[in-house]
Amino acid sequence: MTVDTATLAADALTREQAAAELDRLAREIAEHDRHYYQHDAPVISDAEYDALRRRNEAIEARFADLVRPDSPSKRVGAAPAETFARVTHAQPMLSLGNAFGTEDVEDFFARIRRFLGLEADDAVAIVGEPKIDGLSISLRYEMGQFVLGATRGDGTVGENVTANLRTVASVPQQITGRVPDILEVRGEVYMQHDDFARLNRQREAEGQPVFANPRNAAAGSLRQLDPAITASRPLHFFAYGWGEHSGPVGKTHWEFLERLRSWAFHVNPLAGLCNGVEEVLALHDEIAATRAGLGFDIDGVVYKVNRIDWQDRLGQVSRAPRWAIAHKFPAEQAETVLNRITIQVGRTGALTPVANLAPVTVGGVVVSRATLHNEDEIARKDIREGDAVIVQRAGDVIPQVVSVITAKRRKSAKRFAFPDHCPECGSLALREDGEAVRRCTGGLICPAQAVERLKHFVSRNAFDIEGLGGNHIETFRTEGIIETPGDIFRLRDRRSELADRGGWGETSVENLIDAIEQRSTIGLDRLIYALGIHQVGQATAKLLALNYGAFENWIEAIKAATKERAGNSEEKKKPALVGTAFAELCDINQIGFSVADEIVAFFSEPHNVAVLDDLGKILTINALAAPAATSPVTGKTAVFTGSLETMTRAEAMARAESLGAKVTGSVSKKTDYVIVGADAGSKATKAQALGIEVLSEDEWREMIGG
Ligand code: IVH
Repeated sequence: MTVDTATLAADALTREQAAAELDRLAREIAEHDRHYYQHDAPVISDAEYDALRRRNEAIEARFADLVRPDSPSKRVGAAPAETFARVTHAQPMLSLGNAFGTEDVEDFFARIRRFLGLEADDAVAIVGEPKIDGLSISLRYEMGQFVLGATRGDGTVGENVTANLRTVASVPQQITGRVPDILEVRGEVYMQHDDFARLNRQREAEGQPVFANPRNAAAGSLRQLDPAITASRPLHFFAYGWGEHSGPVGKTHWEFLERLRSWAFHVNPLAGLCNGVEEVLALHDEIAATRAGLGFDIDGVVYKVNRIDWQDRLGQVSRAPRWAIAHKFPAEQAETVLNRITIQVGRTGALTPVANLAPVTVGGVVVSRATLHNEDEIARKDIREGDAVIVQRAGDVIPQVVSVITAKRRKSAKRFAFPDHCPECGSLALREDGEAVRRCTGGLICPAQAVERLKHFVSRNAFDIEGLGGNHIETFRTEGIIETPGDIFRLRDRRSELADRGGWGETSVENLIDAIEQRSTIGLDRLIYALGIHQVGQATAKLLALNYGAFENWIEAIKAATKERAGNSEEKKKPALVGTAFAELCDINQIGFSVADEIVAFFSEPHNVAVLDDLGKILTINALAAPAATSPVTGKTAVFTGSLETMTRAEAMARAESLGAKVTGSVSKKTDYVIVGADAGSKATKAQALGIEVLSEDEWREMIGG
């Protein structure tokens, strides 16, 4: 029988299993480092990541000779060494100035004439090329061989992505014919619309985040540390320029494009050679007309002076050439009917209005939904259901409703009334003074927010339940096993049900139940923070806990304050009366009116109060005592194991925590004391193996002063 080592406790592994586990952890942690450091897109929570690192450490502590050269413990807290090498461009990669209309284009021509001292009737030939919306790349060829490929980066220093570019079919590996010994070819890597849609469908099916647009997808695909991933992504390359070159590239830009073609580069077939303003504008319109059917994104036409000797004379100003400009396309617009306004509730409770449109093609893409941002935006544009509207798509921005065609409005059309209750859970939706966003106060019971709230509830600074990560929360929530925070603690009675589920070994179920048990005794400050009340962070939670002392006091006082504040919104704006429960809340150092109102809003929701009452019955909630700095256990980490005689486990933990000690469930190198009761098992043995101080119950009591 094969055993899944990942499910075994660190201290239960055989030597062989430990080696396999260290190998798995090294790979898994490196993978998460990549997500975090290179893509700014972590796929697990900090707590889960820390748990992986802790597990790695715990195993290494037992088998010091198995520590791997690539162990994550050797790379603590720093960006991994394994990133792309930096490449300093031999010639900087420039950006382009923009032209938005005829006047800007005329100015561009006038500047060139002035700079070169041309007569009004001297011809200025210009090459117009589509401006591809991808990412710019420099390819270096030495003696015709492709030797280095780099991203633009900041224009001066880019990243070495050679291995990945070798997998792109339209990047020639070698070029032959009349090629300068050193030649850098520049151009754009992009992804086509159909490939982009296919990739996103696949990612969605695999539960991975989708890319926002083809450009991001192309960039994300090229910036992969594993070239095999890049190879699996359909990327293309259009060439349009050069960087360093040891010999001439041609007399004109047009001639250079010809050469690129002869070297087997793809050059955009829509490029055209023009003379003067009128001809470039005609080319601009012609390319704009093909835009919808191209199958990839372009966002304008780049005009480049054809004569290379003139380009050289014109040079550059700041980071853009004088000899080129990007004539952008206007944002694409279309008219359609707004059928309905629906409200989306985000993971943080923000209510966002969405326009549901009669489907319309805007710039080649069918649009049936557009964002309306917030309620002020709807009021300002007076957008009503049934209105004829102009929608717009600009680059990668989400489609927007630009304006209403009021002339077409039906007489019966009513102003849109923005809901003051959450459409998902029915809780009050509040808008704080000075904020544009209205938020649902349903918090823990709102299905739109539930998963995020529950993740926050178990996170490190809240309940810190080891082994209950974001993925578990999501699965348990989908399966209806955990709906409210109280359900987490009721898992203790569902041991066999958990063990019967696939993928969970008996040990992991035991470990999870153990971790939950440990945390069923909790400080009031952690409980308050865990509720995820808007504006109530750790510091505020501590202030509240210190001020109210016991859980029951806190609950009663806030319930009283909530009663005082109940009433219509006008009354709510009135200041708090001296001597009231609400005034006491506001007066707590640094809390103030706005935070107090958030707390009261949370309590105005009966569902939230029910969650709290439920937790009050299940948990042992300790008042927060200012830690006695003089205690020898302040700042130390302790583990209790076995059954204690003079106190319950909960009492022992509460006492230790009130003295400023941290109590954890498992023994590791970081543990300072292991307190051993009767029938202690492997934790005591492990403590001895690690050389950690083991105390009897009496010795512990003596240490903390009886
Ligand atoms: S020429 C010195 N030509 O646009 C001239 N750029 O806004 C530099 N781009 O970073 C660029 N298509 O990524 C040029 N046909 C084209 C282009 C193009 C797309 C991008 C390129 C550049 C950006 C500048």
